[in-house]
Amino acid sequence: MDSAIPEWVIRLCEAGGRAPSADNSQPWRFVWDGEHLRLTVDDVRAQGLGKDHPALFLALGAVIENIVQAAQAAGLPPESVRISDGRGAQREFLRVGVSPDHLPGPRLPALLDRHTNRGDFSKAPLPASVRARLAAMREPPARALILEDRAVIGRLAQLIERASEARFRNQELHRWFAESLRYGHEADKGDGLAVDTLHLPPGGALLLRWTADWKHMAALNRLGAYKLFGWLEAAKVRRCGAILAILGSTRSQASMIAAGRLMERMWLQLNADGVAVHPFFVLTDQVIRLRRGRLPPSLREQAARVARETAALLGLKDEEVLIFLRAGMAGNSPKRSRRLPLSDVLAVVDHA
Ligand SMILES: Cc1cc2nc3c(=O)[nH]c(=O)nc-3n(C[C@H](O)[C@H](O)[C@H](O)COP(=O)(O)O)c2cc1C
Repeated sequence: MDSAIPEWVIRLCEAGGRAPSADNSQPWRFVWDGEHLRLTVDDVRAQGLGKDHPALFLALGAVIENIVQAAQAAGLPPESVRISDGRGAQREFLRVGVSPDHLPGPRLPALLDRHTNRGDFSKAPLPASVRARLAAMREPPARALILEDRAVIGRLAQLIERASEARFRNQELHRWFAESLRYGHEADKGDGLAVDTLHLPPGGALLLRWTADWKHMAALNRLGAYKLFGWLEAAKVRRCGAILAILGSTRSQASMIAAGRLMERMWLQLNADGVAVHPFFVLTDQVIRLRRGRLPPSLREQAARVARETAALLGLKDEEVLIFLRAGMAGNSPKRSRRLPLSDVLAVVDHA
């Protein structure tokens, strides 16, 4: 990487690049032109999601949140960070510009330590102080519900189970998931879902590899395997202290980005408070696919019912759940996922 890139630029990319993304796809691109650091979309890495998928905007929102927090920690003047709507030809979502010799300031360990934990959580409620910090967070037009009632959590687990079952019966989704998996040293490349971050039971990795072939998955599905996989997902949902439902509108890009910022702020705070976090996106994904005509006919009715029942359970009218986070105390120490090298996510261009 070019030694002329100021340290503060590298630090901001490092902080932004630690953001979470669906299947660790890292669909962002940073561009340094000698004056400004810009955040945009990487068309190749975003391809799997689609260029206007909510998962893309949630990830970009999380990058924005990380960069804003890192810029504050680095003492950058607030006016040096400009957030935009990504609508121009350059799809610019954020621009940071200060004098190139600005000192980078301290790193924020919380940004680098945030992680997904797919292991076992206890059902102990969140400490009141943690709950209060979450409840005070605002990022309109998005907002979050903190769900702690066991009956509501149980019902949500059933709805996520239905959505998850459908995912394992959908060849397109199955292919995307299978392609994102990284076994052993394949994870060294720095993207995708490292299988050792999945907390699978013994034999789970072998089964996953075998079922990566749709023919095998379809054969197992005839014996009801999709029901088992959905049930396993729901069992995780039930084991938590609380579920956060991040709400917004999939019809508004600004709302989805705000939701990404709120998701990340809550996640960072929870991890900093020693609380484990595990996102569940499958329900939102099914509903989006239904609305966009991308579900096979056999799965449509179930997805529509899941959408209706989720909205009724949570009392939603104009809002949708953009993502669920299960949160709780966990005794395990999860394996951290990797990131692509800076040279893959940062482009250096001439100042126009
Ligand atoms: C929009 C979005 C959707 C995600 N969906 C899921 C999910 O359904 N299940 C899951 O286990 N992790 C999910 N994740 C977590 C990512 O897989 C994770 O952030 C990524 O692999 C990087 O790992 P890290 O969070 O430990 O840094 C999601 C993350 C985002 C931002």
